[in-house]
Amino acid sequence: MEESILGIPDIDVYLVLGILLFFIVLETIGGYLHNSKRSFSDWVQEAGSYAILGLLIKPGIVFFILYIGHSFPNLQYSLHHYNFWGLLIFYLFVDDFLQYWYHRSAHEYPFLWKLHRSHHQAEEMGFFVSYRNAFLYYILMPNIWWIGIFTFLGGAKAVALGLILKQLIIISSHSRVSYDKFFYRHQWFHPFISVWERIFITPAFHHAHHGKSKSDGISDPNSNFGNMFSIWDQLFGTAQFTREFPKAYGLQNDQKEHWATAYFYPVLASDNPDSELHRKHKKTPTTTLEPTLIHLEKDKKYLWCQCGLSKNQPFCDGSHHGTKHKPLLFTAKKTGNAKLCNCKLTKLGPFCDNSHIV
Ligand code: FES
Repeated sequence: MEESILGIPDIDVYLVLGILLFFIVLETIGGYLHNSKRSFSDWVQEAGSYAILGLLIKPGIVFFILYIGHSFPNLQYSLHHYNFWGLLIFYLFVDDFLQYWYHRSAHEYPFLWKLHRSHHQAEEMGFFVSYRNAFLYYILMPNIWWIGIFTFLGGAKAVALGLILKQLIIISSHSRVSYDKFFYRHQWFHPFISVWERIFITPAFHHAHHGKSKSDGISDPNSNFGNMFSIWDQLFGTAQFTREFPKAYGLQNDQKEHWATAYFYPVLASDNPDSELHRKHKKTPTTTLEPTLIHLEKDKKYLWCQCGLSKNQPFCDGSHHGTKHKPLLFTAKKTGNAKLCNCKLTKLGPFCDNSHIV
C-alpha cells in the first residue's frame, strides 16, 4: 500500500475538492455567480459531468487497470524506488503531452469533436467549464488511463500531487477570476508573467481558445490546446499569446442541444437535423465556385472561410470545427470591392486568383 502525501490519508482528494471550492468562493465574492447567464442545462451538465467523472469514470478505469495488472506482477510497484520528484515531473509531462494531442485531435477529427463540442458551447467561463464533455470523451481520454497505469507501476503519490497541481492550473485557466490580469497591468511583474506564460497555461491563453470567433483578433479556438503547460503549443506551432480576453465565448451558429444529448452522445442523438449531434448531419462543401464580390472597408477585420464548409460563404461560420482547417483573418487594406474566393483553391487567399476556372 502506498503512503499518502504528508502522511495524511486522502489529503489529495480533500485538496482537489478544496481547490474547486476555493474558486467557487472567489467567483461568488467577485459577483460572477450572481451575474451568471448560465442556464439550468449548463449547470446540470457541468456539475453532473464533474460528479460522474470523479465518482465513476476515473475510479472505474483505475480499478480496471489494477485488475488487469494482476497478470503482470513483476511490473507492479516497479517505479517505487525512484525519486519522488523525478516521478512527479515524468508523470506530469507525459500526462500533459497526451492531453495536448487528445485535445487537439478533438478539434481536428469529427467524431472526437462531437464529444468535445459541449465544452465549447459554454457562453461564459467559470470553474466548472473544464468538466463539460461527453462521457465517452472521458472514457477515451488517455490521461485517465495514464493515471491507472502510473498508479499500478507504483507512482500513486506522484499521481496524487500531480492531480492537485494540474487542478490548480486547469480550474484557474477556466475561471472568470483571471489572476493574470493583475500581472499584465503592473509593469513590474511583466518579467515574471513573461516567463510564467511560457511554461504554464494562463487564463488569457486558455480564454482565447474558448472565444467565439477569431474575428475579434483575440480568440482562436484552433490554437492553445495545452492544459497545464504551454510548451506543447509553442513546440507544435499552435500557441497564441494575446494577454487579452475575448468579448464573446461559445460557438458560432450553436444549435442548442439538451444536456442529455450533449453528454450521452452517441448513445443519444439530436432530433434537430441542423445539429452536429443529429445522426444524419453532414457538413457539405460549398457548391459556389465563382468568387463573391464583397465591399470591404479599410482597416476592418474579416474572417475568410478556408475549409469550404461554411454556409455563409465566403466568410467563416464555424463549420470548420472538427476538421484540420481554420479560417483566415485579414484586415482590408483599402475600401472598395474585392472578389473573395469560394472554391478555396486560390493561392492568394482570401482573394480570387481564378483557380476555379482552370
Ligand atoms: Fe470556418 Fe470554413 S467555416 S474556415
